[in-house]
Amino acid sequence: MSDLHSEINRRRTFAIISHPDAGKTTLTEKFLLYGGAIQSAGSVKGKQSDKHAVSDWMDLEKQRGISITSSVLQFEYEGYCINLLDTPGHQDFSEDTYRTLMAADSAVMVIDAAKGIEPQTRKLFKVCAMRDIPIFTFINKMDREARDPFDLLDELEHEFGIGTYPMNWPIGCGQSFKGVYDRDAKSILSFSDSHRGRERIRGVDCDIRDTEKLDALIGEKQRVELCEQVELLDGASFDFDLEAVRHGKLSPVFFGSALNNFGVEPFLEHFLKMTTPPLPRRAGEVTVDPFDERFTAFVFKIQANMNKAHRDRIAFMRICSGRFDRAKEYYHVQGDKTAKLSQPQQMMASEREVIDEAYAGDIIGIFDPGIFSIGDTVCERGMKLRFDGIPTFAPEHFAVVEQVDSMKRKQFAKGMNQIAQEGAIQIFFEPNSGLERVIVGVVGVLQFEVLEYRLKNEYGCDLRRTDLAYQQIRWVKDPATDMKKLKLSHDTKWVQDFRGNNLLIFTSEWAIRWVLEDNPGLELLEFNRGQEEGQS
Ligand code: G4P
Repeated sequence: MSDLHSEINRRRTFAIISHPDAGKTTLTEKFLLYGGAIQSAGSVKGKQSDKHAVSDWMDLEKQRGISITSSVLQFEYEGYCINLLDTPGHQDFSEDTYRTLMAADSAVMVIDAAKGIEPQTRKLFKVCAMRDIPIFTFINKMDREARDPFDLLDELEHEFGIGTYPMNWPIGCGQSFKGVYDRDAKSILSFSDSHRGRERIRGVDCDIRDTEKLDALIGEKQRVELCEQVELLDGASFDFDLEAVRHGKLSPVFFGSALNNFGVEPFLEHFLKMTTPPLPRRAGEVTVDPFDERFTAFVFKIQANMNKAHRDRIAFMRICSGRFDRAKEYYHVQGDKTAKLSQPQQMMASEREVIDEAYAGDIIGIFDPGIFSIGDTVCERGMKLRFDGIPTFAPEHFAVVEQVDSMKRKQFAKGMNQIAQEGAIQIFFEPNSGLERVIVGVVGVLQFEVLEYRLKNEYGCDLRRTDLAYQQIRWVKDPATDMKKLKLSHDTKWVQDFRGNNLLIFTSEWAIRWVLEDNPGLELLEFNRGQEEGQS
């Protein structure tokens, strides 16, 4: 069993989160270059359709040259087996992006040094914080004009309520960027030695009090500035505390430039050392130990119709414990059935590969004939457990959707329900109105297009869509709330989901505050953790 132990022990499963354009793709590419998984930059994600995209399963994806769903990449680096979960940005931001974070054990947050925290960073951070997973910050683009590093740290601490610990400190920025001072090694990594290539930049050992040497390296002006800043840091910043890092309370911060491949390898090395192998997972009252040899996994994403001819779906599972063996039969808890998992596959950089075995920490994709739902548990036969459900995340765009041809009512209802069950959209109804008028909520607007495309292609239904001005949704916490007695303003609407849960949709953040002020005692939730399928 030592084999099982060492395989699991060397796994690291993390997601990269950022606002579009902060440099996530560039950083991912450098990681893959180090891991030897790709040979040249530019092969991770084509900005436009001429470049190869990692996942180009759907026609729509191909037309737009973007990847709709998050991908998982596995690569090796210095003995570690790394599973990197991509969280898509731009228009392809969707609920999948959030769910992917449920499968990660830690997150790398990329921040543009000129911009600081941006809206998408904020949203993704909230989901990571909900699970207290460790967050490592890479402040990117130091080769450009940047904001004051103290300001950036302050912003992280105040907005996110976490501590920060700069592992290195930038020496200037933009034209005058000289490199970084490694606080632990007490050495300087010089930017001028960065060759944009794969060669490692050697740090120059340098005592911060060695004025002569420092002056020769970075010049007097910047030496004075650096010494002042390091003194300030040593006196004022948080102490390094690995336990706090591992509980998501303290974020180690690294400054660098992904494009110039500067600071990327030290980041990866520190990151791999500080993060843990797969973490235990809650399944109701039980805590599943990843090193337990019995296989357990949960479904965090379902991708439909990768192959139009076959109408297949792929269920992505995160393995939580033990070893997956292709030849064995496993138990699907929610379906109460035992079967072999069909066509198990993993993403290796740009290819999908059928695999025979996989370990806790890995993500596998399984051919799904339509039996799995998001949050389902699959495990060794004879085990009795259900992993805690995946929360439902608040959609931010809403539209009323109706079928154009009223003869297609059945297909419309079937299609809408199936797509909602897969978790690609959320559907709501206005209490006391007919079922034909469906309010669709999505996290990213592209999901509307996917819905229209799929209903037409798979169910032969054309849709009429009327966008609504609502932007926020909250679950009403107490199911016994008398909804008719609530005082609601004209910009707030009461809706229900298909389970009958009560929700309110709002046109703005302000509207939420007004409703709370006008209805003392009312409690609203941003995520819905109370899915029945998630409760044991
Ligand atoms: P994303 O995945 O987070 O959306 O960002 P991506 O890596 O695509 O980077 C966004 C832009 O920022 C790209 O430029 C990229 O080259 C640039 N960039 C990334 N890291 C750095 C850095 O350290 N320094 C500087 N100066 N630029 C950086 P682009 O012009 O939009 O795209 P491209 O034509 O280079 O592909």
